[in-house]
Amino acid sequence: MPLRPIRIYGDPVLRLKAREIREFDDSLHALVADLFETMHAYQGVGLAANQVGVAQRVFVVDVPLEGGAHERFAVVNPVLSERKGKQIGEEGCLSMPGITEDVQRALSVRLRGFDEQGQAIDRVVEGFLARAVQHESDHLDGVLFSDRLSPLKKQFLRRELDALARGELPDGYHPGSGGGAAGEGAI
Ligand code: NI
Repeated sequence: MPLRPIRIYGDPVLRLKAREIREFDDSLHALVADLFETMHAYQGVGLAANQVGVAQRVFVVDVPLEGGAHERFAVVNPVLSERKGKQIGEEGCLSMPGITEDVQRALSVRLRGFDEQGQAIDRVVEGFLARAVQHESDHLDGVLFSDRLSPLKKQFLRRELDALARGELPDGYHPGSGGGAAGEGAI
């Protein structure tokens, strides 16, 4: 399965509202496998399909838990509801390498959707996994975490975001070969 280059801030596909997936077929399975492979290569912990240029409603996460376990799964056509509480924590995005900011998210959220085989998912997630799920669901609606910052913080980031949009990537970032450490922990 091929690594797919990650689309960077400024790429119009990141602003599309992704389409619902109707078929749980081989092409979906290949896409999910590529999403996992690409996310791992870039040392990320979450990746949405439009971040590799495919405007379809599917994302993957692989979030480490205490004790060495992982929450690793794909979600097709995710629907979030029952947002509860709030958490403020640092977030990075594989499509915005080199940029991290504190972002407010719900502390827990009900996640419904399907796995890549078409089996229903209905569970409540919390903590960092809830953050990742909210971040990836935003991607599928064309929303980036920078959109969720205060006007002042956005203004501070403007120069860096404009540089990314011009194709200026951080030092040490190697598109197509894993992105170096720029993506570590990003979603
Ligand atoms: Ni992201």
